[in-house]
Amino acid sequence: SLANSNKCDLTALHLLICFFWGGICRKLQDPRVMTTLSVLLGLDLAGMDEEEEPTPPPPPKPKETAPPPPKEEDLPENKRMALKEKELGNAAYKKKDFATALKHYEEALKHDPTNMTYLSNQAAVHFEKGEFDKCRELCEKAIEVGRENREDYRQIAKAYARIGNSYYKQEKYKEAVQFFNKSLTEHRTPEVLKKCQQAEKILKEQEKHAYINPDLALEEKNKGNDAFQKGDYPLAMKHYSEAIKRNPYDAKLFSNRAACYTKLLEFQLALKDCEECIKLDPNFIKGYTRKGAALEAMKDFSKAMDVYQKALELDSNSKEATEGLQRCMVSQAMRNDSPEEVKRRAMADPEVQQIMSDPAMRMILEQMQKDPQALSDHLKNPVIAQKIQKLIDVGLIAIR
Ligand SMILES: *[C@@H]1O[C@H](CO)[C@@H](O)[C@H](O)[C@H]1NC(C)=O
Ligand SMILES: *[C@@H]1O[C@H](CO)[C@@H](O)[C@H](O)[C@H]1NC(C)=O
Repeated sequence: SLANSNKCDLTALHLLICFFWGGICRKLQDPRVMTTLSVLLGLDLAGMDEEEEPTPPPPPKPKETAPPPPKEEDLPENKRMALKEKELGNAAYKKKDFATALKHYEEALKHDPTNMTYLSNQAAVHFEKGEFDKCRELCEKAIEVGRENREDYRQIAKAYARIGNSYYKQEKYKEAVQFFNKSLTEHRTPEVLKKCQQAEKILKEQEKHAYINPDLALEEKNKGNDAFQKGDYPLAMKHYSEAIKRNPYDAKLFSNRAACYTKLLEFQLALKDCEECIKLDPNFIKGYTRKGAALEAMKDFSKAMDVYQKALELDSNSKEATEGLQRCMVSQAMRNDSPEEVKRRAMADPEVQQIMSDPAMRMILEQMQKDPQALSDHLKNPVIAQKIQKLIDVGLIAIR
């Protein structure tokens, strides 16, 4: 329906497009009415939360009722001997007497070769001694024995985690993640999960670091500049993004990409890049003027004015900052105007009259109403983008 609703569907563009047709929609056939079409886009993020259904808490897990462990005196002779050796081993291990511990664990294994615990314990000793290859070899053996004897999956998980830890100690994070994953598949524990995430994070950082290459960054930047000059902002954005990956410490690249985002009406993303730009180089004035422009486009005039002021502190002759500040003051003064007043003033502008009387543009505006996603497609065409920008500038299309 074309009724005066101010809540519409959320789109991939994160824009809500709401058209205030007034009573006009009933007389759409009238060509005079069409020329006074007033279009308002509004962003209503407050409505977002309502649509999210709360996820119900997971049902409580049934308690595991493990059979009580067999009493020691019921155990076969060999298992009892093994246990004794293990306890002697543990005592030595606690005192960091690793040689003695190892001897007892080896004895334990001889008494009971079907129990992976004694191999796992030996692996723990080698871990402490920094003999990681030996540690891993014994863990693998332990897992094999465990599987053959249908050992508790928690024991298997522990052995995999120990392998993961040994790689982590050696800063081999890729392998560490691989084995932490195996461990988590057997049995999920918070400690191993945390360790796995830590390793993954370091790995990502390392990969990011290995990708840095300022020469390639420059190449991508030049490609981005070419595309920007031609008005192909999506392509320019892609090249700048690649350039940023190649050189994440170059403030200018963020400023350039922010300019693309502003052209594509992605003001939140523009703002984020401007903030990154300012963080990297607090003396680079474009970070501020572009941030001001993005805030201005979002109708956040008081914040925009603050940012333009900061730009003027860096360079009191900045034309962009002076003009931005003046525009904000005027806009701030006009912001309480009724939609009718905005429309009246806008339609007095010959350029706006020309845009609004162009049947192709009218079709585009209608299409944007039916399909908000269409806006991003139209913005790819520089000629149409410029016209839409004009309608935004005069307040006929408002993006909040
Ligand atoms: C292996 O030995 C440990 C203690 O040494 C014991 O708790 C566990 O039940 C044994 N596992 C099997 C399958 O015998
Ligand atoms: C580990 O598991 C995570 C999540 O399940 C996955 O994203 C990642 O690719 C896995 N890594 C390896 C090395 O298997």
